Amino acid sequence: LHIFSWVELSGGLRLARKKTSAVITSRVELGSRSYDIAVSDDWAGLVLFARPRLLSNRVLIVSDDQVQQHARAVAAALAPAGFEIAVSILPAGEKQKSLATASILYDQLAVMPADRQTPVIPVGGGVIGDLAGFVAATYARGLPWLMVPTTLLAMVDSSVGGKVGINHPRGKNLIGAFHQPVGVYINTATLVTLPEREFRSGLAEVVKYGVILDADLFAYLETEAESLACRDPKTVGELIARCCRLKASIVQRDEREETGLRAVLNYGHTFAHAFEAVAGYGTWLHGEAVAAGMVCASRLAERLGRIPRELTERQVVLLTRLGLPTEIESWPTTELLAAMQRDKKTMSGHLRFVLPSRLGEAGLVEDVAESDVRQVLDASARSS
Ligand SMILES: NC(=O)c1ccc[n+]([C@@H]2O[C@H](COP(=O)([O-])OP(=O)(O)OC[C@H]3O[C@@H](n4cnc5c(N)ncnc54)[C@H](O)[C@@H]3O)[C@@H](O)[C@H]2O)c1
Ligand SMILES: [Zn+2]
Repeated sequence: LHIFSWVELSGGLRLARKKTSAVITSRVELGSRSYDIAVSDDWAGLVLFARPRLLSNRVLIVSDDQVQQHARAVAAALAPAGFEIAVSILPAGEKQKSLATASILYDQLAVMPADRQTPVIPVGGGVIGDLAGFVAATYARGLPWLMVPTTLLAMVDSSVGGKVGINHPRGKNLIGAFHQPVGVYINTATLVTLPEREFRSGLAEVVKYGVILDADLFAYLETEAESLACRDPKTVGELIARCCRLKASIVQRDEREETGLRAVLNYGHTFAHAFEAVAGYGTWLHGEAVAAGMVCASRLAERLGRIPRELTERQVVLLTRLGLPTEIESWPTTELLAAMQRDKKTMSGHLRFVLPSRLGEAGLVEDVAESDVRQVLDASARSS
């Protein structure tokens, strides 16, 4: 059965097999919970990737009504290998990250019936991944799951790291777990159907990686902004692989966000969560809120004397070229501050932020004065 041959390729591992283009780009090293992330531009490598990682022939695919065609393609790719496939197609949208929908999936697993080895395969964006991953984490004290992300955000961010969860009426992601998948299979061809705004929103998280971890990536984005915006497959595939490696490098050093290292991934997010809450969820896509949030965080870093103004300007220019917002509406500053205090990442009411110290490096700054945050928010509001 010598179908794989592994070749080291520019920091990643290439999975070479005749007629497939599957490329293993990254491995998340977490001892017995380690897993691979494959980046490909077709489904041809899926069975080869999935087979050794799934110990049961019975699988549950979870997807939403906007990505059904991709879920069907996944089922069609797995079926010839003898998998018995149940499929659950949910309505699209954040509302599905609920206990009620989780319960529907529990019912489906019970009816199958699933055993401890039955894998859950989410095919979709971060919503489907978080929800189905959470169901996998909790049913029968933990089922294996293999993530197949179809949004750029899920490919570069939410699929890697094992954070799964659902929302509570009182807050996003309040109920959740750390449950690592057994693998992540990314097919960049699924991005062809992704709406433009969703694609751009995902790019905000890519810019984030550049600012906090990888100055070369940021410079690369500055060179490639236009070819990215038109989703050149080669550029996009390389970029996804690079982001996965960056996220993996953080996750494997701080899997459960205990040392503060993983927290750097929240750059721009304290602001972003407040914008999302005050504007009303759904007004801005998450990545759009993150774009404006990064600009605010960068301005805050400037105010605190950590970085020169030029670094903020570079982010504003790049985000604008990528079609992302860099200013906020004139939302009441007091409401925004109150939302930040409520953010679950805030430690007992003290405002803390991930702030850059230079391009490619950021750290957690505790006890930021409210007056500085207020100043930044006022300076970032769109002048009407
Ligand atoms: N677990 C984590 O570490 C983590 C990290 C970041 C975000 N998240 C979560 O991810 C969620 C957001 O994820 P998202 O931005 O992927 O949103 P999403 O899953 O809601 O997908 C966005 C929209 O695009 C549609 N879609 C997805 N793929 C498509 C495709 N290929 N073609 C056409 N339409 C497609 C979906 O049906 C949906 O309507 C939030 O709930 C957030 O909390 C989790
Ligand atoms: Zn985010």
